[in-house]
Amino acid sequence: MMKLPDHIQLREVGPRDGLQNEAKPVPTADKIRWIDQLAAAGPTYIEATSFVSPRWIPQLSDAAAVMSGIARRPGVTYAALVPNMKGLHYALAAGIDEAAVFLSASETHNRSNVNKSVAETLPQLREVAEGALQAGRTVRGYISTVFGCPFEGSVPLTDICRLIEAYLEMGVREISLGDTIGVANPKQVETVLAYLLARYPADVLALHFHDTRGMALANVLVSMEMGITRFDAAAGGLGGCPYAPGASGNLASEDLVHCLHAMGVATGVDLEQLLAAAAYIQEKIERPYPASHMLASWR
Ligand code: HMG
Ligand code: MG
Repeated sequence: MMKLPDHIQLREVGPRDGLQNEAKPVPTADKIRWIDQLAAAGPTYIEATSFVSPRWIPQLSDAAAVMSGIARRPGVTYAALVPNMKGLHYALAAGIDEAAVFLSASETHNRSNVNKSVAETLPQLREVAEGALQAGRTVRGYISTVFGCPFEGSVPLTDICRLIEAYLEMGVREISLGDTIGVANPKQVETVLAYLLARYPADVLALHFHDTRGMALANVLVSMEMGITRFDAAAGGLGGCPYAPGASGNLASEDLVHCLHAMGVATGVDLEQLLAAAAYIQEKIERPYPASHMLASWR
């Protein structure tokens, strides 16, 4: 018998993880419209943009305009990636609810993504976390390449634990474990989570699967059976890290919601409205994601 939770919390990351990876620019007004559509569909968490260097991620250089343009829906936490104090300054001025700090468990990916070693990155993130908490905001922490690195291969679990502990010490309220390039398999997820859940409570962990090889939903199922109830996903199946070769789309939020509802697991999200939002952005980027189209025609 599968042991499933009654409900899960969806962390909608499409406007950030999705749009950071698009070659075709999406106009700011379309991003704003999309985020408002997503919020109306019911998730209580939206990662709306990134306050990173516009040289590194030009796709999200309109972060402040996006944040000021969206209609803030009560009950929704609007988060953004923040790599350093400069980013925090802009992010606080733009009114983020939560700062999402990030680093990678593997040195080579971390350097490729933020131009620093892990040891150099941690003090910067600590400063950001302190500043955000002092300003009355909450902090989320990403760990990338948990299930494998495009440069270094497998990553020791002791390194993941060291970073989880550093985040907890900083006052991070939720840690998202990233399968950055979509290499995790269900057996590996079980092994990794058995190790981590023997040390840390399930409610500080979220899982962030990219669906490069079609294994994200299977990985979610195993995670739920192990007690995890927080999942990142991106409407339309958009996503990928420009500094991780091979990274492709996140698990599509509509696939996650459809699968969970079919099994009686509540998400608080209206699938029809989510599908409409996914179709909206797919049209804007002119790159339809096949699964949700199949879903739309099947209904
Ligand atoms: P750097 O070049 O080493 O930094 O970049 P710097 O401090 O020397 O700054 C360079 C220039 O950028 C300066 O401008 C700074 O002022 C400016 P200049 O003086 O040359 O004109 N700058 C900024 N401008 C605006 N906002 C800022 C900011 N910071 C510096 N916050 C840095 C270091 C970390 C900034 C850079 O490497 C960067 O922005 N990296 C972000 C990369 C990124 O966003 N990657 C994708 C997100 S992570 C991901 O996708 C994985 C995830 O989804 C989980 C998973 O799947 O595993 C989260
Ligand atoms: Mg990602």
